[in-house]
Amino acid sequence: MRRLLVAGNWKMNASTDMAKALLSDILAADVQHCDVAVFPPFPYLSLAADTLADSAIQFGAQNCSTAEAGAYTGEVSVGMLQDIGCGMVLIGHSERRSLFHETDAAVLAKTERVLAAGMTAVVCVGETLDQRQSGYAELIVKQQLSALLHQLTEPQWSQVVIAYEPVWAIGTGETATPEQAQQMHAFIRSLLAGVSQKVADETRVLYGGSVKAANAAELFAQADIDGGLIGGASLTAEEFLGICRS
Ligand code: 13P
Repeated sequence: MRRLLVAGNWKMNASTDMAKALLSDILAADVQHCDVAVFPPFPYLSLAADTLADSAIQFGAQNCSTAEAGAYTGEVSVGMLQDIGCGMVLIGHSERRSLFHETDAAVLAKTERVLAAGMTAVVCVGETLDQRQSGYAELIVKQQLSALLHQLTEPQWSQVVIAYEPVWAIGTGETATPEQAQQMHAFIRSLLAGVSQKVADETRVLYGGSVKAANAAELFAQADIDGGLIGGASLTAEEFLGICRS
């Protein structure tokens, strides 16, 4: 049985005051019925580590370097994230793919680093509106997952979460219908079955893209949707916790 995960991707939004307030509200809510994770920007990760110490709420970074250490100005290594207690890293978010030219090869390299450190990789995939309208949505998602499906071993998959985030639904207010999302999630699970039935049965596949408290329950009720990766709605405690309660 896969346990639902609700994860908040704060993107490049936060201040010390905002992060403190949001983290303490999430902590105080003491959500029991699903796993909860937050992905604050790098400067607030230590604050998350301190605030969430001894709690079940997990936290992670929104990106990491493909390199181990050295002369890579501006980069943050997996070792550093591990050092401050991060359990998770978001990899291949569509904003990183489109704005920062992150390739599938980089996604694989980052994922391998995260897994080698014993952390969880939350790997994001999803098609653009053009790709969906041209009938290529599944092909694109398959391509984005292809290197992982070929390279990762069965045990490594226990440290991977997939987030399906159709680009046209991110920050647009336009959510995939539960049926559209379920169809893609079932397709992703069929790809995972190519690794093994155990991987297909146990890997969590989150949906992301304009999830709110008002539409989360319907999405999470789908057989192959194991929670959500939440952007805008993760920035207010009431909305984020409303999603966690769905
Ligand atoms: P929104 O929830 O703001 O659409 O963002 C989704 C997302 O990109 C989460 O990673």
